[in-house]
Amino acid sequence: MQTLYSAEQIADRVRELGAEIGRVYADRPLTVVGVLHGSVVLVADLIRAIPIPHQIAFVRASSYRGATTQGENLELSLDGLPDLAGRDVLLIDDIFDTGRTLAALAHEIQRQRQPVSLKTVVLLWKVDRREVPAVPDYYGFQIPDAFVVGYGLDYDGNYRHLPEIAILEAADL
Ligand code: IMP
Ligand code: MG
Repeated sequence: MQTLYSAEQIADRVRELGAEIGRVYADRPLTVVGVLHGSVVLVADLIRAIPIPHQIAFVRASSYRGATTQGENLELSLDGLPDLAGRDVLLIDDIFDTGRTLAALAHEIQRQRQPVSLKTVVLLWKVDRREVPAVPDYYGFQIPDAFVVGYGLDYDGNYRHLPEIAILEAADL
């Protein structure tokens, strides 16, 4: 495995994102909504970097795929969401790859829960793979088309615990 971003680089960038979000959402009723499971590490770090009061919640998305990242069978669950009426939402995921997961979740949350606003945050954005019109509103790093793990990102359920972002190579499989 080859390290793409170290734990220190990620921590610095997450602090910057938290400060920026704090400025933009000052005096607004903010709910941070993480996408399970990939966002848990980012959510845990990011909320501690957002210096204004806010609430958190989680939704689920699973797309059943391994290293090939071919989108299919997207399953969404909004069961864990509290009432979002009158609130601003930041939808947080680990990575924006094709963008289909975040686009579908954003659409469903807006349709079913009608928050005042909804913006998206990801740690990583694979800029060359986008298949939807929307782009992330906030992102940590733009990355090339490689399969990465760590800091919440998995390969078949493993490697989420790594403190850094690493490129998974064929020899690692
Ligand atoms: P999208 O719907 O194509 O944007 O894919 C988003 C989801 O695919 C993420 O939430 C991840 O679970 C998964 N994914 C995409 N690329 C990678 C990767 O490089 N490593 C690990 N998971 C990935
Ligand atoms: Mg995943």
